[in-house]
Amino acid sequence: MMKSHLPTCVLVLLAILNAGYSSKRSSVDLDATPRLTVTNNELSDGRFFGANVKNYSTLLLEDEKGILYVGARGAIFSLNASDISHRLRKTIHWEVNPEKNQDCVNKGKNNQTECYNHIRLLQTFNETHLYVCGTNAFSPQCGFIDARTFSFSSNIDDGKEKCPYDPATGYTGLIIDGDLYTATRYGFQYLPDIRRTLYQYTLRTEDSPLHWLNDAEFVSSAFVRESLNVAVGDDDKIYYFFNERVVEESSSFLDKTQVASVARVCKSDMGGKKILQKKWTSFLKARLVCSMPYYETLKALYTLDLGSWNTTIFYGAFVLQWRNMEASAVCQYSISDIQKVFDGPYMEYQDSSRKWTRYDGDIPKPRPGSCVTDDIRSSGVNTSQDLPNNVLDFVKLHPLMYKKVKPLGDQPLLMKKSVLYTRIAVDRVTALDNKQYDVLFIGTGDGWVHKVVVTKTTVYIVEEIQVFKKPQPVENLVISKRQDSLYVGSQSGVLQISLSGCHRYTSCYDCILARNPYCGWDGKICREIVTSEDRVQMTQDMENGNGGCLNSTAEDPLIKQRTVLKGDDVLLQCELKSNLAKPQWLVNNTDPLDENEINFRVGNDGLLIMDTQLEHGGEYSCYSEENGLQSLVALYTLNVWLKLNPTSVPTPVVQLPTPISHSSSKLEFVYISVITILGGLCLVLSVVLMYVSCHQKRKGRYAMGSCRSNNVELQTVSNNFKDKSEDINNYSDGCLQIIPGEAPTLSPKRGNPPPPPPPPPLPSEFTNGIATLPNMLRKMNGNSYMLLRQNEEASSPLYNSFTEELSKILEKRKHTVLLDKLDESSV
Ligand SMILES: *[C@@H]1O[C@H](CO)[C@@H](O)[C@H](O)[C@H]1NC(C)=O
Ligand SMILES: *[C@@H]1O[C@H](CO)[C@@H](O)[C@H](O)[C@H]1NC(C)=O
Ligand SMILES: *[C@@H]1O[C@H](CO)[C@@H](O)[C@H](O)[C@H]1NC(C)=O
Ligand SMILES: *[C@@H]1O[C@H](CO)[C@@H](O)[C@H](O)[C@H]1NC(C)=O
Ligand SMILES: *[C@@H]1O[C@H](CO)[C@@H](O)[C@H](O)[C@H]1NC(C)=O
Ligand SMILES: *[C@@H]1O[C@H](CO)[C@@H](O)[C@H](O)[C@H]1NC(C)=O
Ligand SMILES: *[C@@H]1O[C@H](CO)[C@@H](O)[C@H](O)[C@H]1NC(C)=O
Ligand SMILES: *[C@@H]1O[C@H](CO)[C@@H](O)[C@H](O)[C@H]1NC(C)=O
Repeated sequence: MMKSHLPTCVLVLLAILNAGYSSKRSSVDLDATPRLTVTNNELSDGRFFGANVKNYSTLLLEDEKGILYVGARGAIFSLNASDISHRLRKTIHWEVNPEKNQDCVNKGKNNQTECYNHIRLLQTFNETHLYVCGTNAFSPQCGFIDARTFSFSSNIDDGKEKCPYDPATGYTGLIIDGDLYTATRYGFQYLPDIRRTLYQYTLRTEDSPLHWLNDAEFVSSAFVRESLNVAVGDDDKIYYFFNERVVEESSSFLDKTQVASVARVCKSDMGGKKILQKKWTSFLKARLVCSMPYYETLKALYTLDLGSWNTTIFYGAFVLQWRNMEASAVCQYSISDIQKVFDGPYMEYQDSSRKWTRYDGDIPKPRPGSCVTDDIRSSGVNTSQDLPNNVLDFVKLHPLMYKKVKPLGDQPLLMKKSVLYTRIAVDRVTALDNKQYDVLFIGTGDGWVHKVVVTKTTVYIVEEIQVFKKPQPVENLVISKRQDSLYVGSQSGVLQISLSGCHRYTSCYDCILARNPYCGWDGKICREIVTSEDRVQMTQDMENGNGGCLNSTAEDPLIKQRTVLKGDDVLLQCELKSNLAKPQWLVNNTDPLDENEINFRVGNDGLLIMDTQLEHGGEYSCYSEENGLQSLVALYTLNVWLKLNPTSVPTPVVQLPTPISHSSSKLEFVYISVITILGGLCLVLSVVLMYVSCHQKRKGRYAMGSCRSNNVELQTVSNNFKDKSEDINNYSDGCLQIIPGEAPTLSPKRGNPPPPPPPPPLPSEFTNGIATLPNMLRKMNGNSYMLLRQNEEASSPLYNSFTEELSKILEKRKHTVLLDKLDESSV
């Protein structure tokens, strides 16, 4: 029943999101487009670290010391944070011994992935020591590492109480004042728990009569110093972020559904004396909503600590799954919103109706689940062990809050279709205008990082960077402002890239349009603002992203020559760097291209002129237009040549097969002829049928450029083939003509042997441009941006792009033969 309403709900929700409501920020773009796409090949500043092990998933940065520690499978590394690819590094090999390995395999675990020592925890313990835990083939161990010698300083201890057995189970751990706070699913039973071990009072969550945690899968934890500078003498708190099974909704379809949640405990909690002995007395949890409750899973969380606790912001990355739709969303939560929910009404489980409902009865004092504050101390309760029984009984039965935590602005910051976000890290940057902007680095499931900027009014993706060529999830992200670096952990290694990426912008326009708060134009290059000595000279426009480049002298591109035969197609390449830019073509330096003309097709990679006519010759200049700014990208002179040898047009002749031998009877010849003619007819008919159906399918799928309204059909090159079969032309500018190979026969007059194999491809300046396409196409395919705005929605199964059409042309061209042999007679 409820299920059938869901699609409508979701649609309505999406519509609301799309329309934007009650928020100073404009509506959420349901599928934000990154401005730049940086493929792995173009990533010039990457520094890679990888040894002969796998799973570099645990990173620990000691920024002051300039060290990046990396926990991998069976090894821990100490790297130079300023250049992780640096030769000098230290390694601790920590592998599973053969007995443990055998045990693990005997328990039915996978010897290829699970029966290893996966480093899951790597934390700074004190100035000299690190604390580390590994799964050790389903038999976890932990130990202290002396950072100075980079070796284990004491015996390695049992880690069963601190570390999960399974390398893939959600796990989060923090060391605070000598205590280890871990949350995961422990042991072979995968029992979820939040634990404090190591030093002080060992504490856990309660499991009876209610489970405080239900199949919880932990994502992240955060320590917030709420005791600092607060008059009420509050305690520091630890927040846990996880997904768990919904218990409070009784409808059956939500049975196994996971819901994102936040829990918190107080640092000074010592457990109860009789009730809740060795259990948290301050455990409370609440649901976390981003965009589609019950259809979203929290994947990653970043705590932006801004000095004082009440300005702490949590950034959550969610994956939404609904029917076939897969998308990711990012939401922002303020700590005060979370606090309000924990100070609000509780939920209660009614045994009689077996339902969770809002609790409206009396609440005992001191308020259950709160930390011990001055107020509570004044009433004689010095620690959690002094709490009255009725409070502890209440805590036991009311772990869940009634209200849900909603994101800031009541909507996601960002949504992205067909992408799985796996990790997030956030940097707060002061731009040239002295305002602060949050820059989000979000890792995807296939090895990309999205760099997102959040301003007061908008959110945009500055760039998407392919950090790993081999698709694999980004498993860790660590920011170092000091090193201007982002460290990305994955299965195959760690990559260090520039945080700011200013060097990617080559012109003033590019630098300004990027609206990258790290970067400004200093008159010559785009550079980081923080390292610049003369900030007054710098230009940046975070507000509008288009001001300040008036006097910059952009170098004009070289003029390229293109020569084409009348009737042929030619592609004038004009690759726009920005995915948000639109191409603008001027003809003969003044007139905008008549986009309504049937022969022109404008794509984001160039201008395709089909069936070129003499009057198409002239100057073509391509401008990149973005955010009201125009910059010249390419200049072409197009020469159109008439056929030089018009008399030699061969008329296609249907040649009947010649009899094999003259001795065959006349009858046989007639049979063969009839069969051939019938076959030919069939062929012609099917070709006609195919043409008609293709024609109808294609009709109306494209609109040209951005403003063109009437639809055209891409003409295939082969239309022109038959009447040019034998012209081998060499033009004065050295341009060679592409000759179709499917030409039926060479002219009978010449009777030449078949043409030689094609020569290596020529530089783009000397061909009609199509030879250089494949490279570009691959890149565009990789990112699947639509090149042309289309009339109909992109989700149609017939969804095609300009790229695909061009690929088809290319496929045809492959079968054509390029002749390099000069034919003197035709010059
Ligand atoms: C470790 O890496 C391998 C591939 O290199 C992958 O198959 C496996 O799932 C990874 N294990 C974990 C726990 O991430
Ligand atoms: C890291 O490398 C840089 C040069 O690349 C060097 O100046 C620095 O001393 C090194 N740091 C450490 C901790 O070795
Ligand atoms: C598991 O794999 C390791 C190396 O890949 C091998 O040395 C070991 O013998 C294997 N263990 C079992 C029980 O097959
Ligand atoms: C850090 O902790 C280790 C392990 O408990 C201890 O041996 C060492 O003395 C401590 N170092 C400092 C500086 O406190
Ligand atoms: C945070 O706390 C400080 C003082 O502790 C106070 O001045 C400020 O207004 C608070 N900010 C918010 C957002 O509550
Ligand atoms: C709490 O501490 C105060 C002062 O240290 C002490 O007088 C009082 O007895 C303590 N209360 C309890 C319940 O222990
Ligand atoms: C541009 O150049 C002119 C003259 O060279 C100068 O007066 C003006 O201030 C410059 N504008 C900017 C924005 O630099
Ligand atoms: C450009 O100018 C030339 C010479 O004036 C003219 O022949 C040609 O047709 C023009 N090209 C276009 C596309 O208008």
